[in-house]
Amino acid sequence: MAASIIDGAGIARALRLAWASRVQALSAAGRTPGLAVVKVGDDPASAVYVRNKVRACAELGIHSELYELPASASQEQVLERVSLLNANPAIHGILVQLPLPGQIDEAEVLASVAVAKDVDGFHLQNLGALVAGRPGLRPCTPAGVMYVLDQTGVEIAGRHAVVVGRSTIVGKPMALLLLEASATVTVCTSRTRDLAQHTRDADILVVAVGRPGLITGDMVKPGAVVIDVGINRLADGKLCGDVDFASAREVAGSITPVPGGVGPMTIAMLLGNTLTAAEAGLASR
Ligand code: GUN
Repeated sequence: MAASIIDGAGIARALRLAWASRVQALSAAGRTPGLAVVKVGDDPASAVYVRNKVRACAELGIHSELYELPASASQEQVLERVSLLNANPAIHGILVQLPLPGQIDEAEVLASVAVAKDVDGFHLQNLGALVAGRPGLRPCTPAGVMYVLDQTGVEIAGRHAVVVGRSTIVGKPMALLLLEASATVTVCTSRTRDLAQHTRDADILVVAVGRPGLITGDMVKPGAVVIDVGINRLADGKLCGDVDFASAREVAGSITPVPGGVGPMTIAMLLGNTLTAAEAGLASR
C-alpha cells in the first residue's frame, strides 16, 4: 500500500492560524513582533527563501525588515548591521541567511547575534542549551520536523530514528531533538559505509544531505516514517528532495513531499520563534 503523504504545508497553515491571537496580544501590548532578515550576496536559492520568510511575516502581521548587503560586503559591514539590529527595540528576531560569501567569517557573525533574538537557534549558547536539554530557541527546520511527527501521531520514544546528514542547521540538532524525545538515534553522513544497511533499519528516517534521490525505496523499511528535508533544484527548474519519492512512497508508511513537506514548517517555526522572542521580552518588562 502506498504511504500516506504528510501535508507539511497544511500543518504549517494551521499553526499560523492558531498563532494569530499571539500576534494580536503582542500588538495590543504595544509590542508588534518584528523580524529582521539579513541577506548577503545574491545566492538565488537564498533570495527565494528570504522572500518566502518576509511574505509569511506579512501574512501573520509580524513586522519584518530585509537588509540586503552586496556580495562584496566586508565582515565589519555585516557585524555593524547585526549590532544595529541587536540594539533595535522594534526587532525581536534576527536571521542571517546562510550561506554567507567566502570572505565572511560565518561563526563570528552568528556569535554576534543577541542570544535572545537568535530565532535561527544557531548561536552557540542556544545550541549549547539544546545539547544540555535546557530551554532556548531551537533551530527551525528540526523543530518543524518534531512538530510534524507530533501532529501525525508518530511515536518516537523507543523507536529507531536514523538521521542522514550532520549539518549544524539540520542534522546535528535533529539528532539531539530526537534523542531528547527518547528515540534511539543513529546519525549517518554522505560517507557512511553501506548507508542502506542503516536506513533500512529506521522506523523514522530523516534525510538532510542535499543530494537528489540519495534514498531510494529499497533503502526504506516497510512502514517507516520518511522525512525529506532536502530541497534541490533540478536542471529543468523543478524542486526535488533527497528521497526518490516515487519508489520510497511504495514502501514507507508515511512520507513528506518536496515541495510542501518540511519547507513550510521551517518558516512556521521561524515565525513561532519570533513570537516567543517577542513574548519573552514582554514578560521581562
Ligand atoms: N539557509 C538554509 N537554511 C537556513 C536556515 O534555516 N536559516 C538560515 N539563516 N539560513 C539558512
